[in-house]
Amino acid sequence: MNKIKEEIHKIYSEVVAWRRYFHMNPELSGEEKTTSQKIEELLSLLPLEVKTGVGGYGVVGLLRGKKEGKTIALRADIDALPIKEQNDHSYASKYSGKMHACGHDGHTAILLGAAYVLCALKDKIQGNIKFIFQPSEEKAPIGGAGPMIEAGVLDHPKVDAIVGLHIWPNLPKGKIGIKENAIMASSDPFCIEIFGQSGHASAPDESIDALAVACQVVNMLQNIVSRNTSPLESAVLTVGTLKSGTKYNVISDYALLEGTVRTLHPNVQMNVEKRIKEVVEGVCSAMGARGEVYYERGYPALINDKDIVKLIEEVGIKLISKENVVQIEKPAMGGEDFANYVQKVPGAFFWLGAKEESFYPIHHPKFDFDEEIMKIGIEIFVHTVLDFLGKEKKK
Ligand code: NI
Repeated sequence: MNKIKEEIHKIYSEVVAWRRYFHMNPELSGEEKTTSQKIEELLSLLPLEVKTGVGGYGVVGLLRGKKEGKTIALRADIDALPIKEQNDHSYASKYSGKMHACGHDGHTAILLGAAYVLCALKDKIQGNIKFIFQPSEEKAPIGGAGPMIEAGVLDHPKVDAIVGLHIWPNLPKGKIGIKENAIMASSDPFCIEIFGQSGHASAPDESIDALAVACQVVNMLQNIVSRNTSPLESAVLTVGTLKSGTKYNVISDYALLEGTVRTLHPNVQMNVEKRIKEVVEGVCSAMGARGEVYYERGYPALINDKDIVKLIEEVGIKLISKENVVQIEKPAMGGEDFANYVQKVPGAFFWLGAKEESFYPIHHPKFDFDEEIMKIGIEIFVHTVLDFLGKEKKK
């Protein structure tokens, strides 16, 4: 353990420098060219097999331990957001309208730090470690995990378990949050087109008012969560846009609605999707209009594996004490494409506390975090990997 702390201590100032480099040079989802080059550059200094261009700008480093064994993956997302930063610290974004406002700069630096520390322990490692640097996490519903999985990131060697983290400003600094089962929600976008018939505003009886139909649809959709979902299950259905009409005295023949559905269980997700289609069809037919529903499956719910959760908990208790390992009671209803990996292999995602007296939420133009928490992230990653591979030295 001391050896690990020492290695983290040695690399820490570089981890901070990397984080600041990424923070100053944010790149949006699908555009992470220089970010991935920088990651490649840093990984290439290590005894790793490095692959680039994995499912886009994904970078993967493979550490083969001294002896054969299992394979565990650690994953960081690397993309930034189209937000104009309002911080004025020395490492603020150099590009107006682009910002690491979701902590992915920190995730990337933490994973690089873990790679450096684990490479220093290479001779003691039995098995393999994959370091997955994933682009496009913010590019729902496609995301970056799906394309990396399709490109084979979980194969050759086959990954037996995967672990990821998110810097979390709603959880106090110095703590981690973990939860069995669903920790983040599925996130599906949908859009609805309603086709009516245009006419003069003064003669509604001679037309079919798509705008009026759309209003009824919006109202009826509210019943899906309140009337068709068990009160013991979670679901969110939000209509975010309604576009219709061209002029005040013309009956609109077309309406477009866009929204999103968040759920924690596939059955609930399936039911909400089915009910949206039934509601649209029923309301439209009652009002003489025609409706089309385009429902897209986005990120699935992020379901944490019980055993990997237990492993992280034990590591957390050992490193930062029991009171700092928080059992999360309520999952977040946001989406996270780490969910795609844990549909394929057992894995777990935990929250790295970042909350201070004054703080801003993720995706806020003033979001920032105390870089010291990156040490906890690295330490938990490193110990979880070593414990999983079963070769950690007794302390
Ligand atoms: Ni994020």
